Amino acid sequence: MIKIDGKTATCGLIGNPVEHTMSPAIHNTLAELMGHSLVYVPFLVDHGKLADAVRGAWALHIKGLNVTVPYKTDIMEFLVDLDPLAKQIGAVNTLVKDEGGYKGYNTDMPGLYRAMASEGIAMEGQNIIVLGAGGAARAVCFLCAFHDAKKVYLLNRTVEKAKQIAEEVNGYLGWDMVEAMALFDYNRLPEEKMLAIQATSVGLSPNDDQVVIDEAAFYERVHTGYDLIYRPLETKFMKCVKASGGKAFHGLKMLLYQGIIAYELWNQVTVSEEQAKLVYKEMKVAMGIEE
Ligand code: ATR
Repeated sequence: MIKIDGKTATCGLIGNPVEHTMSPAIHNTLAELMGHSLVYVPFLVDHGKLADAVRGAWALHIKGLNVTVPYKTDIMEFLVDLDPLAKQIGAVNTLVKDEGGYKGYNTDMPGLYRAMASEGIAMEGQNIIVLGAGGAARAVCFLCAFHDAKKVYLLNRTVEKAKQIAEEVNGYLGWDMVEAMALFDYNRLPEEKMLAIQATSVGLSPNDDQVVIDEAAFYERVHTGYDLIYRPLETKFMKCVKASGGKAFHGLKMLLYQGIIAYELWNQVTVSEEQAKLVYKEMKVAMGIEE
């Protein structure tokens, strides 16, 4: 346990609700490992009180905040600066104290990037399949753009939604990186094995037996499957990837690294892979997960 004294810094989470968060386990473990006198606590923010909460946090010298549902977009108007990736994604989950207010970042997507990197999965120069066209899939497409993917095949049940995202990302890049396709058109994909990122909510517990595409012919084109879902720890998508000989990962490490990156931004430190492993262990204990 860290000793709390007059110099202890405070960080926290703002959202509604906040009681099921795993972030205190991540950040308080990090503070202990790094020897920082810092505590991380949840702050419930009532509807209509977001501006007050940000002003109050600033006045109280709160060093950093995470932002969760339902405020990830609403928070943007109360910030003094915005990181370019967060701006493109249109969602902020981390605030860092700056001159005159807070600067907003999105660490969810860099968290995904670092989680993949920790498994040896790269985006740079790769052909990548993204499943879905909601907020998560859109953010993944911008992450691919920021990390110089070669081509993104964006597959969605409603192809119009995929087309909208493709237009936005391609417009941002100035060239056609994203190609929108209908799910059932997967047989038009090039016949090579690719990284596939599952960014829909299909397969989320309790609907463990659901998957957006269950034909083996699709999974023959996948060498690595990354599911953003972490409940359950093995989704149907992951099972399908493995059944066709690919490697498959769940989204729990994305959760870990979004926290680690926020902690690094607040404290200007680098968390080592060894330390990340210890935090991951604590996070799983807090979640009651055995793996
Ligand atoms: P988020 O913003 O969290 O990413 P969302 O906006 O609810 O989530 O998007 C959910 C995604 O899951 C969408 O891509 C949706 O497909 P549609 O755009 O066609 O609605 C996809 N999805 C949900 N249920 C699905 C199902 N049964 N089969 C295929 N895709 C599904």
